[in-house]
Amino acid sequence: MSKVRIGVIGTGSISEMHLNSYKRNPNVTIVAICDVNEARARQVADKYGATKTFTDYRELVADSDIDAVSICTWNNTHAPISIAALQAGKHVLVEKPLCRTVEEAVEVERVVRESGKLLQVGFVRRYDPNVKMLREFVDQGEFGELYYAKASSIRRLGNPGGWFADVERSGGGPLIDIGVHVIDLCWYLMGRPKATSVSANTYRKLGNRSNVQHLSFYKAADYDASKNTVEDMANAIIRFENGASIMVDASFTLHAKKDEGSVKLFGDKGGFEIDPEILMVTEKNNTILNIQPQTDNKGGFSADAAFQNEIDHFISCIVNGDQQISPVADGVEIMKILCGIYESAAKGEEIRL
Ligand SMILES: NC(=O)c1ccc[n+]([C@@H]2O[C@H](COP(=O)([O-])OP(=O)(O)OC[C@H]3O[C@@H](n4cnc5c(N)ncnc54)[C@H](O)[C@@H]3O)[C@@H](O)[C@H]2O)c1
Repeated sequence: MSKVRIGVIGTGSISEMHLNSYKRNPNVTIVAICDVNEARARQVADKYGATKTFTDYRELVADSDIDAVSICTWNNTHAPISIAALQAGKHVLVEKPLCRTVEEAVEVERVVRESGKLLQVGFVRRYDPNVKMLREFVDQGEFGELYYAKASSIRRLGNPGGWFADVERSGGGPLIDIGVHVIDLCWYLMGRPKATSVSANTYRKLGNRSNVQHLSFYKAADYDASKNTVEDMANAIIRFENGASIMVDASFTLHAKKDEGSVKLFGDKGGFEIDPEILMVTEKNNTILNIQPQTDNKGGFSADAAFQNEIDHFISCIVNGDQQISPVADGVEIMKILCGIYESAAKGEEIRL
């Protein structure tokens, strides 16, 4: 069959993971690149051999030489670009978070339904080889009922600045940017129970601490520390219809000793950890066993492999009609949780979802 013709919109930091993965997929041709920054778009088009360059995504999605797009732009553009692409008959892989608000999410979901096209949400951690391995154990009932999860995504210094730090363009700070990954991971592995309430806090105590020297961190392509309207950190407890719960915290800045990623899930037959290292815990013969699975990467996340799996899955869904691993409906549910957390923090009370 003919190759899937791809356009990539947004050519900042994360687009490289998409482009490298598309390049390695034998069923793909990278046709077009778009960025509002024309020089950046041209440079990336040259590097990946794309023949077309755009600065306006509307022109890219109108191009009949393109079958599908990756959206790697600011969060405030995810919904309008997704909708325009779907309405123009393109399949969409949109970076996380799906968008900024529940209203936007529901609208995107409606257009997905109407268009009959695929939309995959970039919940890349679902595609990590270790997570795929653990998911099989979960599905086989190895851990029983997963009723509690605890996740942390703590940066002691790591506000990426630019659009990430502008709530109008990002929709929020560390919760929506990095907390989203670990909330989604726990929720996905727990079997996507329906969230019923959240109780949360956000803090803006430290600012972006752009004064700090001698430590480097992830930055927006157009780094600018002069504006910061997002939280430094957030914590939340999320309750589900089946009685399960998730406790989570996420920060861009915190007086913590070091950065810390921790994802742990607990069931009535056993438990497991993903970050910082994969580990299973169970009980046999009246003895507690900590089991260390032997895989290529014992650390929590292999970015190259996870992005490759994510892109390969997107292409396989288009070409072979595979069942989607991260469909739009999951993006909508996660937006309800994230927005509920911000609402709870703002009101200082529990929010029913
Ligand atoms: N999955 C992950 O692990 C992961 C990691 C980092 C970022 N992300 C997500 O990827 C997206 C991009 O993040 P980034 O770190 O690459 O940001 P970035 O600032 O490095 O790059 C964003 C790019 O988008 C371009 N852009 C913005 N609006 C545009 C528009 N309307 N049309 C065309 N181009 C536009 C900017 O000019 C910039 O080049 C965000 O949604 C972010 O949440 C995901």
